[in-house]
Amino acid sequence: MKKQILALTMAAMMIGSLTACAGSGKGDETTAAASNGGAAGAVLTMATNAEFPPYEYHDNNAIVGIDVEIAEALAEKLGMTLEIEDIAFDSIIPEIDSGKADIGLAGMTVNEDRLKNVDFSDPYTTASQVIIVKDESDITGPDDLEGKSIGVQLGTTGDIYASDYEETGSTIERYSKGFEAVQAMMQGKIDAVVIDLEPAKVFVEENEGIKILDEALTVEEYAIAVKKGNTELLDKINTALSELKESGELQKIIDKYISAE
Ligand code: ARG
Repeated sequence: MKKQILALTMAAMMIGSLTACAGSGKGDETTAAASNGGAAGAVLTMATNAEFPPYEYHDNNAIVGIDVEIAEALAEKLGMTLEIEDIAFDSIIPEIDSGKADIGLAGMTVNEDRLKNVDFSDPYTTASQVIIVKDESDITGPDDLEGKSIGVQLGTTGDIYASDYEETGSTIERYSKGFEAVQAMMQGKIDAVVIDLEPAKVFVEENEGIKILDEALTVEEYAIAVKKGNTELLDKINTALSELKESGELQKIIDKYISAE
């Protein structure tokens, strides 16, 4: 009997570390296999949308990025094995709501509306919404978005802020991936893209002829979403998160992906 349980635990751990491999960052060994006894095999399911570099994106067959490494570090502290679910951004909150995913980690901004459906951890970073345009665009700041066609990723805070311009006659084009909006703009189909600063920097760096405008639209905070009322998990995450902040590990993860200006 004992042997059987051991075998099962080992099997669970092996399956766990296999799935965790899918998310290990930039080729280093960040497998978050359970190591502290009791909770061995317990899985922490992270819902994300891996279209958002440098927070989460595909690198060949792996999903990597800041959020992935944060989740791996949290899972390790919780003695759990990380599993990543890559879904549409606007499906993340429903997935947590229904209990199919434990956490949402997706460069997700805390806002009033989302707080009605999920609870958020303490913030782990600040961010902003910026405007990307073609180099030769006549749009030079937020006011110039009036009456223009603006591309966003569906369901993001960029979508929410851009939608404010609808009353000025602007049209909003909603794409399932942020980069699709950028591509549409480069092809001249839309005038501007509203998106978070760090992915904007990546897209602008990787593509010719586009730029980020100096004036940001908003300042926001990213946090980890959990099911409403799951204070047990929320407390554990906040404790682990503050440990990562104090030890400098969080900053190290961020610095690995974002070079200081
Ligand atoms: N910060 C924005 C929001 O919360 C965009 C997040 C998009 N994240 C992603 N993984 N695609 O709405």
